[in-house]
Amino acid sequence: MERTFEEYKGLIDRHLLDLIPAIDTKSNTLYEAMKYSLSSGGKRIRPVLLLACCDFAGGNVLEALPFAAAVEYIHTYSLIHDDLPAMDNDDLRRGKPTNHKVYGDAMAILSGDGLLSTAFEIISRDMTMYMDDVTQLKKRVRAMNVIAKGAGIRGMVAGQSADIENEKNRVSSEMLEYIHVNKTGALIKASMMAGLYLGEPDDKMIDNFTQFADNFGLAFQVSDDILDVIGDVKVMGKNPGQDSKDNKNTYVSLNGLDQAYETLNMLLDNALDAISEYYDNAEFFADLVNKLRVRDK
Ligand code: IPE
Ligand code: IPE
Ligand code: MG
Ligand code: MG
Ligand code: MG
Repeated sequence: MERTFEEYKGLIDRHLLDLIPAIDTKSNTLYEAMKYSLSSGGKRIRPVLLLACCDFAGGNVLEALPFAAAVEYIHTYSLIHDDLPAMDNDDLRRGKPTNHKVYGDAMAILSGDGLLSTAFEIISRDMTMYMDDVTQLKKRVRAMNVIAKGAGIRGMVAGQSADIENEKNRVSSEMLEYIHVNKTGALIKASMMAGLYLGEPDDKMIDNFTQFADNFGLAFQVSDDILDVIGDVKVMGKNPGQDSKDNKNTYVSLNGLDQAYETLNMLLDNALDAISEYYDNAEFFADLVNKLRVRDK
């Protein structure tokens, strides 16, 4: 692995807007609304993980860029919709007014729809370049399938719907885990698996990274729950205190802050265990885990 987090992120930031297909000028507002939410302020953790996993599995990072952009489009759409008045009703995202505050609810819904379909347009467009190269094509089909699954009704959308449906109830710890694993863990895991599939992973690597991603993905949302209580708006670029305002089921609201930290650390330890056999070669991923212990945004 040759690149740092910042270098992968730089690659993504440079190509994120270029990869959107040219749009008719009559749809300029749609395009502006999509660009508004994509531009700056995002940590880009999902596409970085995709590229890093591709690299780790011996794949070509530059050729994986459409897939990396696609997961960031999907994630950004999920944030736009998550912030809508009908969902979490938030005013601030990535340090700016939320999409619907600027473009209105209808355009926010449509720009989310636009980002989601553009994700699959650009990865399927990429696949058409490999029609005669079955080996490369197969990798891309697997990557696309794992992304679609992670984003959809057996992943993020399932988690979001369970989150919304249970806002007014106090859920079991099993349900809480289901919500978090799906609304956040699923797309993080899908990004990692898609990256591996674009390289040449062996079965052991798939197993180890599956375990890593299951723990890291859930930890990411536990940490988001903690930040909602202790975080600073200026650092996070979104308002804290939203979860209690919306009566959300979170690791903090159900178990308390100390227990949430304990769960976070346990999940991060499990993630490290899952990649321990790679020693220093997996340092990139171990560093990310350790950053999550103390993250502030
Ligand atoms: C926020 O995701 C929503 C969650 C799924 C927890 P991020 O914390 O990755 O947000 P950005 O992309 O950096 O804005
Ligand atoms: C979001 O969870 C998960 C998504 C799929 C967007 P949250 O609702 O906790 O995310 P934030 O805190 O608004 O970023
Ligand atoms: Mg939400
Ligand atoms: Mg939210
Ligand atoms: Mg949150």
